[in-house]
Amino acid sequence: MKIGVIGSGNIGGNLGKHWAKAGHEVLFSSRHPEELGDLVRESDGKAKAVSIEEAFEANADVYLLATPYKAIDRLSELYAGEYGGKIIIDATNPYPERDGDMAQEVKDSNRNASEYTAMKFGTAKTAKAFNTIHAEHLKDRAWRTTDKVAIPYAAQDEDSKNKTRQLIEDIGFDAVYVGDLRSTKQMDPDQKLYGKSVGRQELEDMMR
Ligand SMILES: NC(=O)c1ccc[n+]([C@@H]2O[C@H](COP(=O)([O-])OP(=O)(O)OC[C@H]3O[C@@H](n4cnc5c(N)ncnc54)[C@H](OP(=O)(O)O)[C@@H]3O)[C@@H](O)[C@H]2O)c1
Repeated sequence: MKIGVIGSGNIGGNLGKHWAKAGHEVLFSSRHPEELGDLVRESDGKAKAVSIEEAFEANADVYLLATPYKAIDRLSELYAGEYGGKIIIDATNPYPERDGDMAQEVKDSNRNASEYTAMKFGTAKTAKAFNTIHAEHLKDRAWRTTDKVAIPYAAQDEDSKNKTRQLIEDIGFDAVYVGDLRSTKQMDPDQKLYGKSVGRQELEDMMR
């Protein structure tokens, strides 16, 4: 798949490197793509650094959203013409101390964090994944053949569900489907699946 990484820090950088190693074509992006050269050099496979605009214009199959949560409003408005029908995997989390009032408003609303993303990127197909795992574990616990770490994920439709599962499994994690976006409350900060790097059975027990 061609994957546009929107926000190439702890999460986007590590995921992009894993996906390049798995054989996917990765476009790392941020507001400062000139700072992403090391990521490209460290990538074992097909990867390059581009502006966010170039990433959205590149007609990728999947976009990983891995910016601070507060960037959602502006990104969804600025690139509204580009992501229609595309899959967005949302790895973001709302933290009011970092993201300000908009994050607090989402937390206080009836919407899960992923439902807000899906509402903003309304013409895309949104999935939620990789927001519950610590960046160091994402980096160090991928590529296992046994004792795999389970990654909970949710998706809006079959296509986003299948591609997200594949992108989890391709890098040596176990994909555990939690349901559609209405089911993602349990993945949000401080909820029961958040920050838990455990195997499938333990994760499924927590979901009961
Ligand atoms: N760290 C973790 O353990 C962890 C775990 C799970 C989920 N998350 C979530 O994943 C997201 C990313 O976290 P992170 O730790 O990877 O953050 P990070 O290391 O600070 O990386 C953020 C990336 O987004 C870019 N960015 C920042 N503001 C932007 C904006 N307004 N528009 C576009 N790009 C912007 C940054 O580059 P420029 O500033 O150059 O644009 C950088 O490439 C957050 O929502 C976080 O809550 C983090």
